[in-house]
Amino acid sequence: MRGRNPFLKATDERTPTKPYTITVQPGNIVVHVDPANLHGGDHGLVGSVLGELMEAGVDIEHSCGGVLACSTCHVYIASGGKSCGEASEEEEDMIDSAPAVRSTSRLACQCVPDGSTDIVVEIPSWNRNAVKEGH
Ligand code: FES
Repeated sequence: MRGRNPFLKATDERTPTKPYTITVQPGNIVVHVDPANLHGGDHGLVGSVLGELMEAGVDIEHSCGGVLACSTCHVYIASGGKSCGEASEEEEDMIDSAPAVRSTSRLACQCVPDGSTDIVVEIPSWNRNAVKEGH
């Protein structure tokens, strides 16, 4: 299954309105996001952290294909989290099944920053071996 989970109600559709960067830690990988050329669909919501990182060649684990049916895309938004808005109730429920949840935890496939600030994404330690930069 890819794209949007048809069994969940549509969440607040938001996309970035300004260019911004996603810095991935560890590794200090910087991805530039252009609101005129957003990615996702096959990897989470359009403009999601997962969609933008996958397009840039930064592979993040996402077992369900980005449809909010797992928690493998769990990341920490270490900085700039306010630009990501609130997690939906369904996202919060799924995050609860992830290990080592923090107040900054989000699912990368559902987290769509608005571009008002640059963000820093920390990959949880157990997923770091899975992260590959393909460019
Ligand atoms: S990839 Fe499954 S919830 Fe994000």
